[in-house]
Amino acid sequence: MPSRPTSPTTSRVLRTLTGGVAAAVLVGTASVTSGGVEPAQPAQRSTAAAKKPLTLRQAAPRDLRIGTAVAGGGHYEKLDVPSPFTQDSTYRALIGREFDSVTPENQTKWEFIHPERYRYNFGPADEIAAYAKRNGMKMRGHALVWHSQNPEWLEKGGFSKAQLRAILKQHITTVVKRYRGVVYQWDVANEIFDEKGQLRTKENIWLRELGPGILADAFRWAHAADPDAALFLNDYGSEGINPRTDAYYTLSKQLRKQGVPVNGFGAQAHFSLKYGYDTSLQANLARFDKIGMQTAITELDVRIPLTDGQPTVEQEAEQTRRYAETLKACLAVRGCSSFTLWGFTDRYSWVPDFSPGEGSATVMTEDFVRKYSYYALRDLLRDATPGRAPRTYSTQASIAAR
Ligand code: XIL
Repeated sequence: MPSRPTSPTTSRVLRTLTGGVAAAVLVGTASVTSGGVEPAQPAQRSTAAAKKPLTLRQAAPRDLRIGTAVAGGGHYEKLDVPSPFTQDSTYRALIGREFDSVTPENQTKWEFIHPERYRYNFGPADEIAAYAKRNGMKMRGHALVWHSQNPEWLEKGGFSKAQLRAILKQHITTVVKRYRGVVYQWDVANEIFDEKGQLRTKENIWLRELGPGILADAFRWAHAADPDAALFLNDYGSEGINPRTDAYYTLSKQLRKQGVPVNGFGAQAHFSLKYGYDTSLQANLARFDKIGMQTAITELDVRIPLTDGQPTVEQEAEQTRRYAETLKACLAVRGCSSFTLWGFTDRYSWVPDFSPGEGSATVMTEDFVRKYSYYALRDLLRDATPGRAPRTYSTQASIAAR
């Protein structure tokens, strides 16, 4: 693995950039209309600067994958939009340009990929996997053991314990084997603890019917199906150090002691400006790092309470700060191996549908105009690349040049 910014020097650089992000946002406001800025025309720039602006994946350090959720299924089925990934070519092209990791937003969840007991629907996930391969990308598989988005045939099937075990084993084996080679990380267990750090033994059919021991089996089956994929625990409200992440930390140590192939911990990072930002994210990732686990930011978005449809400049500044702080925490932890946005354009974000009154949560507007948060991420990635001299970007000139 090439070295990443774990050295004191780089950490210092990153700390300096915090101020830079906030300053960039505030300094830039005069010249920027709501929503963001597009790169300036190369003609106005010097030869060196006239190069095409880096995309996120180009800017990223070699040992960090930059990802996005790939929209389709889920809440889109209620909305009056054609399926984004298959119908919107601008959207699809941007995915491959900006990212080198994709997470099917819904297409590998049980209710989509296994809609009937004896029928799988691989089509939509296969398309994403093929796209990823064509574009030199990898896929995050999501999710195998979860309480949500399960098909009715499963939840209401009245199966015996032995049947349920067999169903889970068969599902994991089939799905994980199919995406071998393109999936590099699987969310094996998603949202298994509540905010008190209690296992969700009521809502989660597997935990309820088969007991917590099923977790070890699920990880073992996934590992047998694809020994090269890193296997993750993943949850929301799991950014800082809190009872839920304490529970994950304890469980990880226990499972790993028993030789269970649990390789990673993912913090979803669905943030809202309605709530505070927990600055213990880095310390939390670092404690998993210390016990030899990978970490990841798996579903980042930062939603904004909107009064008249548009965020204020102050809200955008705060949003940018949170995107930047989250990336910095990941960059500062050596084993933080992927950083995924839960969608990159407001056009397809799940936020307005799931959190009414909130929106503008992603790094591009509905028309794919890049926002401050996009540039903050891009510049942090660029400056974290090993061997590159860090640059500052907090001046009006550097914003205008972008
Ligand atoms: C969300 C999708 O974005 C929606 O399209 C769908 O209707 C519901 O699920 N945590 C997770 C994700 O692990 O799978 C969820 O995705 C968001 C919260």
